[in-house]
Amino acid sequence: MRIVRDPAELAVTERPVGFVPTMGAFHEGHLELMRASARENARTVVSLFVNPTQFAPHEDLSKYPRNEARDAELAEAAGADVLFAPSVDTIYPRHTTEVRVSGVSERFEGAIRPTHFAGVATVVLKLFNMVRPDRAYFGLKDLQQCAVVKRMVEDLNVPVELRFLETVREQDGLAMSSRNVYLSPDERERAPRLHDVLVQLARSLREDPSVLAEELVPAATAALNRHGFEVQYLALVDPESMEPRSKFHSSFRWIVAARLGNIRLIDNVPA
Ligand code: PAJ
Repeated sequence: MRIVRDPAELAVTERPVGFVPTMGAFHEGHLELMRASARENARTVVSLFVNPTQFAPHEDLSKYPRNEARDAELAEAAGADVLFAPSVDTIYPRHTTEVRVSGVSERFEGAIRPTHFAGVATVVLKLFNMVRPDRAYFGLKDLQQCAVVKRMVEDLNVPVELRFLETVREQDGLAMSSRNVYLSPDERERAPRLHDVLVQLARSLREDPSVLAEELVPAATAALNRHGFEVQYLALVDPESMEPRSKFHSSFRWIVAARLGNIRLIDNVPA
């Protein structure tokens, strides 16, 4: 595996090229994306770039876990051919053009983190233009990010095929996340309740299609509060538009964001 800092050295001759954009601190969620890309493409490029523009000033940019040597080993073992790990100055020699995806960016994560998705969309488009992949791989763990990237690719005619992979979980159901290491032992024990509640909501709506999604939310929120979560949103959504929905449809997803102590957790499951 080659480690590349300069986008001019990215040129890959063999196609198709699969691309997995990341911010590092790899866990099985990231590695599954890389393995899928390695299976489906002649070459796999992984980017490791902790993108400052998607963090708000009060968020954890400086505390974001970084260990390039460990990540390089894991990426290579997962089938990556190139690890593109540029500096901030390489990606942002100046910062004037921004990609904003209206609508899908605005609710839920976008309401709580108003500048986040412009940072994501801008860096993802820049990375696409540097790597020029045939396919790009994203995790459904970040459902709204998938919706934003998909809409951007459609709206701007970006010539890439998007692949979205289901969330990789710990044995107890907790969605893998680089932030899980910051949970205290007590919080780590409570954290899987977030997934349990989503699974229960999905079951309840499927079993009684006459009930409305919003009628199920108050009891589910109360259950999470009892486990020590502070719920920020909990809803059934259409993942194309990220608009809330009331009635079951097999393409919809239940989404949640909640704080557990100082850690913010997000998750989602199919309806
Ligand atoms: P990062 O949080 O490092 O995630 C990189 C990719 O891994 C994303 O597509 C994310 O959805 C996926 N991922 C994270 N946890 C996962 C899990 N448990 N199961 C499956 N996939 C998982 O998302 C970003 O970086 C950045 O916003 C980025 C797209 C790189 C732009 O800066």
